[in-house]
Amino acid sequence: CGIVGYIGTSNAMEILLKGLEKLEYRGYDSAGLALQTETGVHVVKEKGRIADLRNAVDSSIETKMGIGHTRWATHGVPDKKNSHPHQSASGRFTLVHNGVIENYVQLQRKYLSHVQMTSDTDTEVIVQLIEKFVLEGMNTEEAFRHTLTLLHGSYAIAMLDENERETIFVAKNKSPLLVGVGEDCNVVASDAMAMLQVTDQFIELHDEEVVIVTREAVEIKTLEGTTIERAPYTAMLDMSDIEKGTYPHYMLKEIDEQPSVIRNIVSAYTNAAGELSIDEAIVNAFKEADRLYIIAAGTSLHAGLIGQQYMEKVAGIPTEVHISSEFGYNMPLLSKKPLFLFITQSGETADSRQVLVKIKALGYPTITMTNVPGSTLSREADHTLMLHAGPEIAVASTKAYTAQVAVLAITADVVAKAFGRSVAFDLKQELSIAANAIQTLVDSKEEMETIARDFLATSRNAFFIGRNMDYYVSLEGALKLKEISYIQAEGFAGGELKHGTIALIEEGTPVITLVTQKQVSLNIRGNVKEVVARGANPCILSMEGMEEEDDRFVLPKVHELLTPLVSVLPLQLISYYAALHRGCDVDKPRNLAKSVTVE
Ligand code: G6P
Repeated sequence: CGIVGYIGTSNAMEILLKGLEKLEYRGYDSAGLALQTETGVHVVKEKGRIADLRNAVDSSIETKMGIGHTRWATHGVPDKKNSHPHQSASGRFTLVHNGVIENYVQLQRKYLSHVQMTSDTDTEVIVQLIEKFVLEGMNTEEAFRHTLTLLHGSYAIAMLDENERETIFVAKNKSPLLVGVGEDCNVVASDAMAMLQVTDQFIELHDEEVVIVTREAVEIKTLEGTTIERAPYTAMLDMSDIEKGTYPHYMLKEIDEQPSVIRNIVSAYTNAAGELSIDEAIVNAFKEADRLYIIAAGTSLHAGLIGQQYMEKVAGIPTEVHISSEFGYNMPLLSKKPLFLFITQSGETADSRQVLVKIKALGYPTITMTNVPGSTLSREADHTLMLHAGPEIAVASTKAYTAQVAVLAITADVVAKAFGRSVAFDLKQELSIAANAIQTLVDSKEEMETIARDFLATSRNAFFIGRNMDYYVSLEGALKLKEISYIQAEGFAGGELKHGTIALIEEGTPVITLVTQKQVSLNIRGNVKEVVARGANPCILSMEGMEEEDDRFVLPKVHELLTPLVSVLPLQLISYYAALHRGCDVDKPRNLAKSVTVE
C-alpha cells in the first residue's frame, strides 16, 4: 500500500491524486482520500485504480489539506468498505495505514467490544482506539502515541482530526514513510517519488517515531513524546525518470533502458584506475566469511540463483540462495562465519526485512543489494551495493533483474581478484559486449511480438526449460509470463521435466527453450525432442554458435557466464506482447504490487 499527505496553500486534492498515481505500483485494489474542507472532513473511496477515484471525487471541493491511500489488500477483501481512509465512530478521526497490525483482534476484544466496527480491517482498530482514549480524557497527540504503544506489527500512518484542522498526525514502524518539507507546505509519502511534484527535501523517519506535521513545521517525536531533531536530505530523483514519456507502458520503457543500465553500472563500479571495484569494506566482509547466504524474493531470488553461480565459479565462495519468507522461520544450520546478501529491488520487501532483523540480532554481517537509495533494507544492513537502474515503476521487474545480475557479476569478479584468484576473462569488456547484445534484442521487438502471437496468444499454459544458467532464466521467464499475462507457466530444469511434469505436455503446449550453455546443449536439445514427441510446440532460442536450423531465434553471442543478461530479454518481451495480445494491464497486473511491505 502507499500513503500520502499534504498540508499547505495549494489545491490539496490534485497534489494527493498525483501523489497516489505515483504510488500506484505499491497496490491498486482500492484507493481513497480524506480532504479537510470548511465544513469538515470529506472522505471518498473507490474500489479499483486511482483513475476510478479521480472520477469519483467531486473536483469542485476546495481543500488545502488531506491524506490519501492506495491499497494492496491484506485484511479484508478489496471493496469500498475495506478501503482507506477509515474513520472513528463519531467521524472525528480519519486515518490511512500501510502495514499489518498483528494483535488487532486482541485489541478489539480488550478495548473496543462496545464499538460497532464498519470494516474487516486491522486499520479501523487503530482509529477507534485513538477516539476511545480521547473520550477518556487524553488529548489527540497523547491518544495517538498511546495507541501506537499498544500495536504489534508494522505501520505507516497519517491521520486527520476534525477538531485540529492544522495538523496531520503521522507515525512509522517497519513500513516505509517519509516527511517532505516544502515552501509554505509539508507533505507525507511512502516514497519520495509521490511528492517530488512539491519538494525534493525529505526527512527520513525511523521506526517508532511520531511526526506532528503542520503547514509551517515538522516535529518528530518518540512514542514517549521526546522531540528528535533531524535535517532533511535532497532526494536525487529526476521527474523524467519517473514519467512514461512516449512509451505505452513503463515495462517497455524499462526493457529498453537495459543497455544503458548495464553501461551505467560498469561506470559506477569503475575506479579512478579504470578497474572494476566495489566498496573495500564489502570486500573485507567477504574475506572474513566462509559462506555467502543470498536472501531474496520473486525476481530478485532468480537473480540470486545466477549470483550463486558467479560467487562459486568465479570467486570460489560457497553460496546458498534462500527464499526470504522461508528462511526467517526455518533457518538452516549456518556456517561458522556466514555473510548475508539481501537482494531486493525496492529495498522494502517485508519478507526479506524480517530475515535482516533476525540476522542482525544474531550479530552476523549483512549487505543489501538494492535499486533504492535510503530504502529500509539499505539503511539497516551494514553495507549497500547499489543497482543504479533508475526507478523501476512497472510491477513486473525487468531492468532491476539485469542490473542485479550485472552487479553480482562485478562483485564476484572484484572479490575473486581480492582473493588472488585469476579470472580468465575481462568482465568490463564482456559486460560492454553484453550491453550491445541487449541493444540488438531490444531492437528485435517485431520478432518477439510474432513469437508471442504464434505461441502464446491463445494458450492456457506454457513451459520454459533450460539447463544450468538457462534453467534459472527459465524460472524468471515463467514468472514474467505469469505475472502479466496470467498464462499458467512453469520454468523447469530441462532434464527434470521427464520425471513427472512431462505428463502435462499436450498437443500444442508451448515449450520455450533456451540453449546458451555449450556443455549441456545436446542434453537440452534431447529434452526438446522428448516433449516434441508428445505433441509440444517448441520455440528454441539459442545462442550464436550453437544454433540449429529449426531454432526460432538466435541470440547474439556473449560470454557463457553472462548469458542470463541476454537470454532474459526475449522472455521479457514475449511476456509483454503476450499480455498485450490478451488485453491485460501490463504495468499493473491483477493481485500484485511492486513493493510488498507486509509478510
Ligand atoms: C513483489 C513483486 C515482484 C518482486 C518481489 C520482490 O512480489 O511483485 O515483482 O520480484 O516483490 O521485490 P524486491 O523489491 O524485494 O526485489
